[in-house]
Amino acid sequence: MSPFQLTRTLAPDAASADLRADVLHGLTRTPKELPPKWFYDARGSELFEEITRLPEYYPTRAEREILAARAPEIAAATGARTLVELGSGSSEKTRFLIDALLPGLDAYVPVDVSESALTGAAEALLAERPGLRVHALVADFTRGLALPGTEGPRLVAFLGGTIGNLLPAERRTFLRSVRAMLTPGDALLLGTDLVKDEATLVAAYDDAAGVTAAFNKNVLAVIDRELGGDADPADFAHVAVWDPEREWIEMRLRARHALAVKIRDLDLVVPFEEGEEVRTEVSAKFRQEGVRDELAAAGLELARWWTDEKGRFALSLATAR
Ligand code: SAH
Ligand code: TRP
Repeated sequence: MSPFQLTRTLAPDAASADLRADVLHGLTRTPKELPPKWFYDARGSELFEEITRLPEYYPTRAEREILAARAPEIAAATGARTLVELGSGSSEKTRFLIDALLPGLDAYVPVDVSESALTGAAEALLAERPGLRVHALVADFTRGLALPGTEGPRLVAFLGGTIGNLLPAERRTFLRSVRAMLTPGDALLLGTDLVKDEATLVAAYDDAAGVTAAFNKNVLAVIDRELGGDADPADFAHVAVWDPEREWIEMRLRARHALAVKIRDLDLVVPFEEGEEVRTEVSAKFRQEGVRDELAAAGLELARWWTDEKGRFALSLATAR
């Protein structure tokens, strides 16, 4: 059997049907908003990889530091034979887990909306690990997943602080759906970025080189290409603000002047006033108590909590109760 399998659980046109619905809904309401998964076409996935290497973007390095130090402990504590990873992207940091779990690992199951990220990651992993079996799923992790029937126990990893890109109500639903994927003896490994000083947080989402700005504006390129839009990225400014009450970074695109964006396939003209903003993403930051409570509300028990040396980022290991 080939060590690589890829399953598309999104109907071929589901992406565009979803995109149409999200854009129509998001750009005709006040205030305007777009859901973040549309950042990640092939170009968006590349730009995100560039973000992870920026000096200002500490979360990737901090989480890698924790994984490098704790992977053997995680492997011993879980004894996982299947590693499922949600929003796996390049799977770069996941190598620490995979290598600690091999040779008992039956399968690595990366799940992502970006097919190009999945195939690129699998190719790189398999080139170095002939014994590894990869079963990739092109799927939306907020929509309920049909996982392949591989050996248990199962470890579900959700890294990168991506859980912070879901709104609180979405997180509740999402964590319950993760709980439903687990049976007793299975575990969740969750990466969360932590609350810290505003300057550090804002710089991580508004870097000097402008890569995050390009990433944020990529959602306009997706709309232009997929739906026949005429949005000009140069007409919008990238904005990242810290909301101290809700403890999240909010990413927005702000119209530099009054303008209208035509979206041919939706028969839609979207007017913008000067300074009007579209919210494109939140990135929530956490504290241990909050993580513990959110896990508990979903029937998951926080068993271990690790941070990097500087206390910037946390990895939680939770078990199904
Ligand atoms: N885990 C990697 C990548 C984080 S970026 C890391 O830590 O570096 C977020 C990843 O989640 C991207 O690869 C993106 O394509 C994917 N993603 C975002 N929303 C998703 C969704 N709803 N369903 C599946 N994958 C999603
Ligand atoms: N999960 C990442 C985070 O919240 C995603 C991300 C990083 C992101 N930088 C971004 C999303 C800029 C949109 C814009 O840290």
